[in-house]
Amino acid sequence: DWDASSIIEDQVAKIREQVGDAQVICGLSGGVDSAVAAALVHKAVGDQLTCVFVDHGLLRKGEVEQVKHDFVEATGIKLIAVDAAEDFLEALKGVSEPERKRKIIGEKFIRTFEKAQRQVIEEAGAKGAEVKFLVQGTLYPDVVESGGGDGAANIKSHHNVGGLPEDLKFELVEPLRTLFKDEVRAIGTELGLPEEMVWRQPFPGPGLGIRIVGEITKERLDVLREADAIAREELSKAGLDRDIWQCPVVLLADVHSVGVQGDERTYGSPIVLRPVSSEDAMTADWSRVPYDVLSTISTRITNECRQINRVVLDVTSKPPATIEWE
Ligand code: XMP
Repeated sequence: DWDASSIIEDQVAKIREQVGDAQVICGLSGGVDSAVAAALVHKAVGDQLTCVFVDHGLLRKGEVEQVKHDFVEATGIKLIAVDAAEDFLEALKGVSEPERKRKIIGEKFIRTFEKAQRQVIEEAGAKGAEVKFLVQGTLYPDVVESGGGDGAANIKSHHNVGGLPEDLKFELVEPLRTLFKDEVRAIGTELGLPEEMVWRQPFPGPGLGIRIVGEITKERLDVLREADAIAREELSKAGLDRDIWQCPVVLLADVHSVGVQGDERTYGSPIVLRPVSSEDAMTADWSRVPYDVLSTISTRITNECRQINRVVLDVTSKPPATIEWE
């Protein structure tokens, strides 16, 4: 019989013992793992923890506020938020090739995170304290997986927010190392974290950057953010959140098709809905979302996003297709 509050107590004691009175850094991605890991460490050592959040401008609607306001309010965590959206856009200018996008986003992320870390280290140093630890939201399945070769890594280079910069050496604090995702969610709930964060479905580190097929621009990101928010809202209204593993919403920015909107001919881009069911993302099947839910999403997207005049459904399993389009 598994009990969230006793796991929390255990972990808090372990963290205190490991960390002592040293300073700790944690990178937040907007996802559940880093949020729960940070909240646990904060519960254990309070203001010895500083969280760093790099906003790369590729998160979904509401997610930046969730981290910067809701999460901070729920936990009282000390947060350094870096708004790097323009920097990332600049670095991604003219780039359409998926692997190049991933590489640029991954490298830029690490450099930005590292800069913020150095700032934390300097500030602590000025007060005579030393930053010795880095929190990672590693889960049990990650521990098991990293024992063997990750076949998926050969297909797409996965970038995980919060990666360890090579020349900054910290000791790791990994309070979720023995836990599965559902247990992490239970702990997050028990710790009072915002529900949207606790129940967030898998979302890739490079974010919306790999859900725009074509060049990433501010305008395209805004359109995609809106369409994605509509899809998420309607799927969750229909009670499908927990049946669907995740539902990437993809903008085919370089594809145009003819439409008629408000008595006018339009030449807009399509949005792809990619709802999938899966156990572990290694394989997946396309979700049989009820037609009326799809219909509402389609109508709302074409009404509320003027640049979109067509919504299509991806009915491919994995394999042969991957879950994300890039
Ligand atoms: P694919 O598209 O390879 O995705 O079928 C499998 C799962 O991994 C997520 N994904 C990523 N996660 N960094 C991540 O942290 C990445 O670069 C990345 N690429 C894909 C994807 O959303 C799905 O859950």
